[in-house]
Amino acid sequence: MKQMLECIKQNALEQLASLSGEASELEALKVRYLGKKGELTAVLRGMGKLTPEERPVIGQMANEVREIIEAAIEEKAAELKEKARAAKLAAERLDVTMPADMKELGHRHPLAQVERDLCDIFLSMGFDVVEGPEVEYDYYNFQALNIPENHPARDTQDTFYITENILLRSQTSPVQVRTMEQQRPPIRIVSPGRVYRSDAVDATHSPVFHQLEGLVVDKGITMGDLKGMLETFAKNMFGSSTKLRFRPHHFPFTEPSAEVDVSCFVCGGEGCRLCKGEGWIEILGAGMVHPNVLKGCNIDPDEYSGFAFGLGIERIAMIKYGIDDMRLLYENDMRFLSQF
Ligand code: DAH
Repeated sequence: MKQMLECIKQNALEQLASLSGEASELEALKVRYLGKKGELTAVLRGMGKLTPEERPVIGQMANEVREIIEAAIEEKAAELKEKARAAKLAAERLDVTMPADMKELGHRHPLAQVERDLCDIFLSMGFDVVEGPEVEYDYYNFQALNIPENHPARDTQDTFYITENILLRSQTSPVQVRTMEQQRPPIRIVSPGRVYRSDAVDATHSPVFHQLEGLVVDKGITMGDLKGMLETFAKNMFGSSTKLRFRPHHFPFTEPSAEVDVSCFVCGGEGCRLCKGEGWIEILGAGMVHPNVLKGCNIDPDEYSGFAFGLGIERIAMIKYGIDDMRLLYENDMRFLSQF
């Protein structure tokens, strides 16, 4: 019996040592050696045949063997558990130093951004931003702006008519009239928005484009105020060393009128590709509000005076970012847009 016990112990320990895999195998070993129908139990059952002197000796030995096997199994169980834990950790390992997948953020369209920049500059100078309708009466788009029927200035703005009296506005200037009808001076507004002309699409024309209109009306407003205000605007938009140049021009709704150029902010006036060697770039039209326009809005031109200006937002965006084809602003090609 001693030999059997010794044999059981040896076998159990050897099998345990060579066991490398699953917890289920360990469980099977445990049942085989220590279970109710296990080998050790079978030996203990046979103890009844022993003499009273042998019984305690064998009993003690059997207990020792059981304890040894139990301890070895426990040790093995702990080892397997640790192994499984290590494997799980290795499988779940996160490399926190790995470069992250950057989310691509969208941004405003360059045209919308320029419109915002323009409005921000004028807001900072105390202007209000107002809007007017794109479907407009002939009266506001032309007549009230001192452009009567058959006036040659109508030819320069090929207009989309909806009825004889209703059209798609060809300029933002009608908002001047709408504002003066509703507000008494002092008036200080800018008005951005879409305008329409029956033009074919090319690098510098589009049937839909954007303008920003400006209007200031108060007592004692002079051309000097216009120049000072435009200078502040131009320095904000194109850089602090920007200079302005006024060229005499004609608009029916202003008198005197001017076209306004900024010194080229790329070459500083030397002449380059952007300014086409001129040193100057035209940015807007402006002038003193014509007395007829004031009168039509019940504002007495002997008491009040004002200045107005109008610019093309596409044009400003193209100048500012060196874009040579207006169509790029409408095609929404991501390769173009993502550069801004
Ligand atoms: N409305 C003119 C255009 O579309 C631009 C313009 C010129 C607006 C002079 C003005 C101005 O207010 O004073 O060509």
